[in-house]
Amino acid sequence: MSKILRFIMLTLIGAAHAAGPALAAPADAGHGEVLARHWCAACHIVADDQSQGTDNVPTFAAIAARPGFDPAAIARFLRDPHPKMPDMQLSTIESVNLAAYIATLKK
Ligand code: HEC
Repeated sequence: MSKILRFIMLTLIGAAHAAGPALAAPADAGHGEVLARHWCAACHIVADDQSQGTDNVPTFAAIAARPGFDPAAIARFLRDPHPKMPDMQLSTIESVNLAAYIATLKK
């Protein structure tokens, strides 16, 4: 199986898992990117074309490259982030789409 196909399948599986059986819609990484540029870029470097984030905040590419990276776990984290990160009151769909976008940064 090609790398890209495998990636898309894993993303979809991860997203469906994160959202639970009630939400069958596939994750929308494009929407996730819009959200990331709007809500996350103040601290995180969210894309290759962004030159500056906040010190000591992991870039989204670095998060995607972590061993064991799991979009479903990221989506869950985003709905209930730990104290160093603000709770942005993201909806399930927003968190899943953001996680799907972060997954696209995996090299
Ligand atoms: C005010 C600054 C700030 C904003 C805005 C912010 N983050 Fe973060 N984020 C952080 C910091 C700091 C960490 C590192 C937390 C830690 O190491 O405990 C982090 C960590 C993370 C992680 C890694 C969590 C893990 O498993 O270690 C993810 C994923 C993440 N942020 C996603 C996002 C997304 C998506 C947004 C936009 C909706 C966002 N962040 C907005 C500061 C921010």
